[in-house]
Amino acid sequence: MRDMPSVIDAVPKPGEQTWNPDRYARQAGFVAELGMPVVDLLAPQPGEKILDIGCGNGALTVKLRDMGVDVIGIDASAPQIAAARALGLVACVMDGQKLDFPDGSFDAVFSNAALHWMRDDPDAVIKGVWQALKPGGRFVAEMGGGDNVSKIRRAIEAAFRRREIDPAPYNPWYFPEPDEYRRRLESAGFNVRYIRLIDRPTRLPEDLSGWLDTFAESWLAVLDPAEAAAVKVEIANDLEPELKNTENFWMADYVRLRFAADKSSKRGAMFRCPTV
Ligand code: BEZ
Repeated sequence: MRDMPSVIDAVPKPGEQTWNPDRYARQAGFVAELGMPVVDLLAPQPGEKILDIGCGNGALTVKLRDMGVDVIGIDASAPQIAAARALGLVACVMDGQKLDFPDGSFDAVFSNAALHWMRDDPDAVIKGVWQALKPGGRFVAEMGGGDNVSKIRRAIEAAFRRREIDPAPYNPWYFPEPDEYRRRLESAGFNVRYIRLIDRPTRLPEDLSGWLDTFAESWLAVLDPAEAAAVKVEIANDLEPELKNTENFWMADYVRLRFAADKSSKRGAMFRCPTV
């Protein structure tokens, strides 16, 4: 692939999005609204100490707090954490790949629509969660998985290739298959009690361009702004026949990976009294 003058040398790393809280609230309100099934799977109890990884603007974290949970949110984005704190939440800027809590701090660790942004080191996330949990603690989360937004991904990749740019190094997302993620969880010691992919075509609040600005910002930031604008038009034209429904709404091809895993000692579970 030849070097293109439109490629900016300083490539944004995954997680280095601007996460403008106002734009996020407008374009991504559905993320928290559709997150309640994960809260149900978590089954939080009043008084439990729970960590919310990638809490964003706190829209779902606040629901945990209102259920009587002693919840702490973390997120890599300072503006999102400021928005979460404005809701009165305890929240701090922290990379989920570098969790920094005393061992055994939490009864449960929760995450909705965030782990797929931590593509550099998913095992570091899992290891940090393991350490932060009390024995018997639960790790319950939902993220993009498998073929999540595969039509959108393919259209972005095709637009890059038309410009002779290899898209792969700039893809900011990690969407594992259940088998892969189960292996990672089990290698860290977790007992996986539930893991599955869920197709969830999702109606976008505005047009695809707004979604791309919000969720593909760091990927498209590889291009200069004029090229990025042209790419957005091409992607919308490519995908309109597939993703715009008969009522003229854009439907993104979301696929969720939902799981619940427990920090129960494997050795403990397999312990047998010696026969005498
Ligand atoms: C998701 O929540 O599945 C998602 C987030 C960012 C980009 C693509 C998908």
